[in-house]
Amino acid sequence: MKIAVVTDKSKMEFLPTEESLREDMQKQSTATDVQKILSKKYECIHLTFTDNIIQTLKKEKVDLVFNLCNGINGNSKLAQLPAVLEFANIPYTGSSILGHALAINKIYSSHIFKCHDIPTPDFIYVYDTDELYDYDIEFPVLVKPCDEGSSRGIHQDSLVFEFDSLVKKVKSELNIYNPPIMVCEYIEGREFSVGIVGNDDEMIILPIQEVDLTHIPDDLKKFYSFEIKMHYKDSTVYHCPAPLDEDLEFLMKSISARAYNALSLQDYARVDIRLKDGIPYVLEINSLPGLMKEHSALYRMANSCDLGYEGLILKIVDCAIKRHDIQ
Ligand SMILES: Nc1ncnc2c1ncn2[C@@H]1O[C@H](COP(=O)(O)OP(=O)(O)O)[C@@H](O)[C@H]1O
Ligand SMILES: [Mg+2]
Repeated sequence: MKIAVVTDKSKMEFLPTEESLREDMQKQSTATDVQKILSKKYECIHLTFTDNIIQTLKKEKVDLVFNLCNGINGNSKLAQLPAVLEFANIPYTGSSILGHALAINKIYSSHIFKCHDIPTPDFIYVYDTDELYDYDIEFPVLVKPCDEGSSRGIHQDSLVFEFDSLVKKVKSELNIYNPPIMVCEYIEGREFSVGIVGNDDEMIILPIQEVDLTHIPDDLKKFYSFEIKMHYKDSTVYHCPAPLDEDLEFLMKSISARAYNALSLQDYARVDIRLKDGIPYVLEINSLPGLMKEHSALYRMANSCDLGYEGLILKIVDCAIKRHDIQ
């Protein structure tokens, strides 16, 4: 069996920022480690998602793509490589076009969670600041873009306590990010991530990770904002497995599994949760969560149980092989 690990073109060439440079480096390093692991068991090559990807995959006689493409551009960019591969009938790891398209947009995914009685923060969304006057908003609220990741657009001033600051923040977000902008009920509480690997009855829920922000300087607000993810990694403490009583752990895992199924996700994902008054609120699901060695939540989760990092990568491939019934 021949596997191709496929990554995006350089984001730096498209948008030269420090953020893009960091993203390129993370992707490159993840691809190298994934390829190293898969090469022990399979023939494995690394390709870039370019215009001629179908021809290259066919020429190389690739049986399965290990998808590491977040996409560069567009409002459903995570779904782009799956769409191309599905058109060419080439099997790939992870979620399908549908799953990625639903998960990338927090408005659509939150609506679906609510339909399934999965706790998620209440929210409104606006295309213009004038629309804010139509709502009776209870503060504090958290302002965020609907289709970004890695806390882009979720800065310290995203947590707002009164109307004038809300108008100001929404206006600045509308200038930068895809409309509409979300204004969410702020869930004050402990923060967790739940990793899922597998499908149907063979789904494994990994040990839960808690993101502990208590050591972050006092002048910063305690939510996982862009500033904290970028500049306070050293004072962010991850507990994995998280200290949780058995009932709460069970509840968090079952809500996460329901959220994963509600969006028709496949093979693996990571659910971000905040806990308030004993209720785990699902903030979002990452349908293509980071797999970077030593730095990603899934790495920590897999390493705190028998699966291990290698086991995690091989398990993702096994799930895809089984789904596609590859011989
Ligand atoms: N409704 C909310 N209540 C409290 N904190 C929130 C809320 N939404 C987002 N956050 C905080 O912002 C962080 C990033 O938000 P998230 O929705 O996970 O976006 P991203 O895709 O950028 O990770 C979360 O980890 C959490 O700390
Ligand atoms: Mg998140």
